[in-house]
Amino acid sequence: MKLLLFLSFIIIVASQNITYDQDFLEEFDLYFNATQKLYKKLFDDADYKKDMAPIFGRINIPVHLLLELSYMRLIEIDSETQQVSLVLEIINHWSDLRLRWDPEDYNGVNVLFVNSGILWIPEYSASDSQEFELLAPDAQRFARLYNNGTVYYETTIFMKFSCKLNMWNFPFDVQSCGIGFQTYSLTKQGFNLSTKVSEVMDPSVLEGNGEWCIISLTNNYTVEVPTLSLAGFQLRLHREPLFYVFVIVLPCFLLTTLSNFGMFWSSRVKEDKLGKMSLGLASMMAMTVLLDLASQQIHKNANFPLLGWYVIICTILISLGCIMVVLISNGCQQVYRKPKPGLLAKLEQYVFSRAFGAHLLFQGANLTNLIYFLSHWKGHPNS
Ligand SMILES: *[C@@H]1O[C@H](CO)[C@@H](O)[C@H](O)[C@H]1NC(C)=O
Ligand SMILES: *[C@@H]1O[C@H](CO)[C@@H](O)[C@H](O)[C@H]1NC(C)=O
Ligand SMILES: *[C@@H]1O[C@H](CO)[C@@H](O)[C@H](O)[C@H]1NC(C)=O
Ligand SMILES: *[C@@H]1O[C@H](CO)[C@@H](O)[C@H](O)[C@H]1NC(C)=O
Ligand SMILES: *[C@@H]1O[C@H](CO)[C@@H](O)[C@H](O)[C@H]1NC(C)=O
Repeated sequence: MKLLLFLSFIIIVASQNITYDQDFLEEFDLYFNATQKLYKKLFDDADYKKDMAPIFGRINIPVHLLLELSYMRLIEIDSETQQVSLVLEIINHWSDLRLRWDPEDYNGVNVLFVNSGILWIPEYSASDSQEFELLAPDAQRFARLYNNGTVYYETTIFMKFSCKLNMWNFPFDVQSCGIGFQTYSLTKQGFNLSTKVSEVMDPSVLEGNGEWCIISLTNNYTVEVPTLSLAGFQLRLHREPLFYVFVIVLPCFLLTTLSNFGMFWSSRVKEDKLGKMSLGLASMMAMTVLLDLASQQIHKNANFPLLGWYVIICTILISLGCIMVVLISNGCQQVYRKPKPGLLAKLEQYVFSRAFGAHLLFQGANLTNLIYFLSHWKGHPNS
C-alpha cells in the first residue's frame, strides 16, 4: 500500500515536469533584462523618494486616488452597539508621474510589478471607525505600475465602524450605512479621493451574512467637509426576520393564546379564581424572559421597536385577563347555575356566560396584535 502511494507520488511529480522551449526562455531573459534596466532607471538612477508625495504644488492639480471596491464581506452588525464589521477588497488607483517611461526604450515593457514597500502609497483611513486594519502582510503587497505613471495597488481591509441604526421597525428594519474614507494629512488641494463600485463585483456579496441581506451598494456617499477629501460607499441592507418570528413572536402568541384559554375556558370562574390568576401571572413571568431576549438585540435609544411593542401588548393582554378573571368572579353570582348534564347543554351554558365573551375579546385582541405586527413584514425589498 505504502509502495503504491509512493509510486503514484513519483508519477504525479514526473508528469508535472514543465519543459520550456528555448525561444520562450530567450524571450523571457530579454524581457527581464529590460525590466531590471527599467527598475534601475525609475528607482536608483532617478533617486526615487517614497517619503515624498507626487503633488505638484505650483498649480492646483491634485493627485486623484480612486478606490475601486472589488469585493465585500459583511461580518456582522451589532445592533446593540450600532457597529458594523466588514472585510473589503479595494483596488487603489492613482498616478505618480515620477514613475512613467516610454515602453519602446525598454523592449516593449509597459507594466512593472514591484513590492509596495518601495513606493509612495497614499494614506487614507475610514471615517467613524474604531478599527481599520490591512490584512495582508507588508511583504506580500505588490503594486502594478503602468508606463503612463498609473499605479494599481490592491488592499484587503478589515474595518469596524459605527452606523446609526433606525430600530423602530425591528425586526423588519431596512438600514442604510455610509462607509466613509478620508485623508487626514492631505487637503483637497493636494489630494482628490473618489470611489467606485467595480463592475466585476461578485454577486454573492449581496447575500450578506445570513442575518442581513444587502439591497444595494453604491458610491453615493453624501457627507461633505470643506477641507478634507472624503468619499465612500452607501450600503443598504435589510434584516431576515425569521429568527425573531420563531424565537420571540410565535412563543409570545402561543403563550397569550393558551393563558387566555386557561383563564376563560369555563364559565365557573369563581371556583378556581386563584388557579386561573396564578396561570396568568406565570405567563407574565414567561413573557418577561421573551422581552429580555428582545431587548438584548436592540440599542437603548428613543425608538422603541415594533417587536418590543408586540411583546408589551401581549403582556398587557395577559394582565388585563387576570383583572377580568377577578371582575367576572366577583360580579357573576347569577351566572353560575348548577351545571346541567350533557355536553351540549354545558356548551350552551358556556356560550351564554360572561367568560365566553371575555374569551372572544381577548383571543380577538391577541390575533389582531399578531396580524398588525406581521403586516409590517414586506418580504424582500428590491430597491
Ligand atoms: C524533467 O525535465 C528535465 C529537464 O528538461 C529532464 O532532464 C528530466 O529528465 C525530466 N524528468 C522527467 C521525469 O521527465
Ligand atoms: C542583459 O543585459 C546585460 C547588460 O545590461 C547584457 O550584458 C546581457 O547580455 C543581457 N542579456 C541578454 C540575454 O540580453
Ligand atoms: C494608464 O494606462 C493604463 C493601462 O493601459 C490605463 O488603464 C489608464 O487609464 C492609463 N491612465 C491614464 C491617466 O491615461
Ligand atoms: C475630484 O474628482 C472628481 C471626480 O473625478 C471631480 O468631479 C472633482 O472635480 C475633483 N475635485 C477636484 C478639487 O479636483
Ligand atoms: C445613487 O446614485 C444613482 C445615480 O448616480 C441614483 O440613481 C440613485 O438613486 C442614488 N441612490 C441613492 C440612495 O441616493
